[in-house]
Amino acid sequence: MWSEGSSVAEGSARFASRAARELRRELLVTPLPELGLVAANGPNDPEPELVVEDGVVLRMDGRAAADFDVIDRFLVAHGLDLEIAAEAMALSDLQVARMLVDVDVPRSAAVRLARGLTPAKLARAAGLLDPVELMFALKKLRARRAPANQAHVTNLKESPALLAADAAEAAARGFAELETTVGVARYAPFNAISLLVGSQTGRPGVMTQCAVEERRNLELAVNGLVTYAETLSVYGTEQVFVDGDDTPWSKSFLGAAYASRGVKVRFTSGTGSEALMGHAQGMSMLYLEARCISVVRAAGSQGVQNGSISCVALVLSLPGGTRAILAENVIAAWLDLEVASGNDAIASHSAIRKTAKLMGQFLPGTDFVTSGYSVMPRHDNTFGGGNYDADDLDEWMTIQRDWQVDGGIEPVDEVEVTRVRDRAAHAIQAVFAELGLPEISDAEVHAATIGYDASDMPDRDRAADVDAADEALERRVSGLDVALALDRHGFEDVARAVVGMQRQRVSADYLQTSAVIDEDGYVRSAVNDPNEYAGPGTGYRLEGARWERLQALPHVVDAARLGAGDSAAAPAVTEVGEALAGTDEAEVVIAVGPAFAGAIRETINGLDHGCVLAAVVDGVTDGGAVPRIVRIRRVADVAFIAHDGARLSGSGIALGMQSKGTAVIHRADLQPLDNLELFGMSPLYSLESYRAMGRNAAGYALGNRVGPVPTELDNFARAKLIVRTTLLHARETRSAVKGAAPVELELTAAVETLPL
Ligand code: 5AD
Ligand code: CA
Repeated sequence: MWSEGSSVAEGSARFASRAARELRRELLVTPLPELGLVAANGPNDPEPELVVEDGVVLRMDGRAAADFDVIDRFLVAHGLDLEIAAEAMALSDLQVARMLVDVDVPRSAAVRLARGLTPAKLARAAGLLDPVELMFALKKLRARRAPANQAHVTNLKESPALLAADAAEAAARGFAELETTVGVARYAPFNAISLLVGSQTGRPGVMTQCAVEERRNLELAVNGLVTYAETLSVYGTEQVFVDGDDTPWSKSFLGAAYASRGVKVRFTSGTGSEALMGHAQGMSMLYLEARCISVVRAAGSQGVQNGSISCVALVLSLPGGTRAILAENVIAAWLDLEVASGNDAIASHSAIRKTAKLMGQFLPGTDFVTSGYSVMPRHDNTFGGGNYDADDLDEWMTIQRDWQVDGGIEPVDEVEVTRVRDRAAHAIQAVFAELGLPEISDAEVHAATIGYDASDMPDRDRAADVDAADEALERRVSGLDVALALDRHGFEDVARAVVGMQRQRVSADYLQTSAVIDEDGYVRSAVNDPNEYAGPGTGYRLEGARWERLQALPHVVDAARLGAGDSAAAPAVTEVGEALAGTDEAEVVIAVGPAFAGAIRETINGLDHGCVLAAVVDGVTDGGAVPRIVRIRRVADVAFIAHDGARLSGSGIALGMQSKGTAVIHRADLQPLDNLELFGMSPLYSLESYRAMGRNAAGYALGNRVGPVPTELDNFARAKLIVRTTLLHARETRSAVKGAAPVELELTAAVETLPL
């Protein structure tokens, strides 16, 4: 009779191992709708509804006009287009949802319809799409033709030289917008100036912002030290607005204030904020976010930073969280807004999980794939963000290359990065000197150029810095002052670029939806460079010169040159005529491939072929047998190399070796594809391993009992070396000559003396 053992109570080592993974540091919870802890399609979300009589909205989304809150009233007054609403609200949720993924419904038609949809209807329709449909909808609905990206540039010491250097690198890497913020509020003007100078050193036309309290933010903008803002938060319930001492109208007014001074502005919203602040009113995150995005649209903003933003980890604690965040990005694009689509705050401890989330925005492409990619190491990120950071750049660019997708970051080699960093750090040093601000030392310039993070930066007198920053704000140091300072110190081009940004503010083309400024100073926006995706063969594709550029990572190796070997070194062997069958019964043939010690000179892990041969000879001799070296020329397959060798061997035993180092011990009477021992893990072998193979071959030849050489396993060997294997094997194959007779080889004396 079976009865349960004690093992079940003991627990499993595999469960313990998984419990210790990074992922498990965070909490996953069941939905709790009454607290707003439900990602989408909440049980208390209202039915989509719009009742209009004589041009007056009587009911919307479950509420009568008399019960409208401040958000409802704002949307009815400034958002909903009642003419379109009559047509749009008459469609079923499913009909609306299908339009989003119907390639024959143009973006313009979907965008027009959205003007007549209530928040509940927007949320309901988007909530019907599965993840791939959402991605498709996002690809179709994005406002600007090509995606772009935004960077975070901050550091814990608020070092101006480091800020400028990081901004320059970010600009050189292709980020269209850079944002900084402050650890200490009084640093704002310094950080804004550092970003302005750095960005224009890296690439003219890159826009910058310094996220601080609104009054200060606007002041920096009016003084020409920044060109955009994305600090205007909105929320989906009235109570959160009340707590923030704001209304949709006050936010609109502020948005208009920025725009009126030629400053690009987008709002911020995102799922989860209402639940976090305790005022979700039992509604789902996606529904409340649909209200936010509708407010942003109604406020007349050109765009929104959304996709949960700072609340991402809360939304991801719930079922369907990743999907809901993608759905809110879709709703924003659907409402014709520029979208900076999150992926800025740390979404998860798990690299796998956070990148799975990223793909929702990365693959379709958004106006700014991240709302801030941390170009410096994340512990220097004073946004508290840094979902992806300096150490992840190669991965990001490799994923762009893998998918042939433009995620807005360009590869730049170390020399160029160091050059622009050095120049930017010198430029900000000059500006500080000229404006009479506290000195930036040469040591700071040096550390900012080549250091890893702020801990490599010399400390500054922070009291002197904040005093000087206050004073700079007081005397209204402007973008023009910065340009003049640059010009006086030999940075004419940077000065011109800074003036260029002032001009952009005056012409204000970049206030159009989704505007970025290209390297020629032209504004590209949804107006002059719209996304007109309508199926295969249309819209933006990563191809041509841009694709060439994004695939050329500095660490990519030229396949044609790889595996060519080090042809300068002298071959380790000489050919001494055709190899004939041996008669010595103690003989072990060491049979090598066609390219061995010829077209190829070393194994896949860099062992010199001469040394390998010497090691095998040593092992065979040590085992009491007589070695003879032969090159098989007719094939490159290790089984046949070894078998051919065995048939030449007086004992019938041979060790066959390919140039990459794979080896087989064979016996003449076995089938060619059978063997005595196979050594397939060539990257793991040392000269000692080859000596052991020789010794074993000798054992077989002399009829001794032989314990197989222990096999080893490296799970990553294939991923690491499959390319080298392919290229080496191709060279070996090309060296084979059909029907060619084997030749006898002699190790040259010079090699025999090589250290083993
Ligand atoms: N909803 C609204 N505002 C948000 N912010 C971050 N996440 C959200 C969200 N989910 C705000 C910050 C800051 C601005 C840049 O964005 O609080 O004010
Ligand atoms: Ca941001």
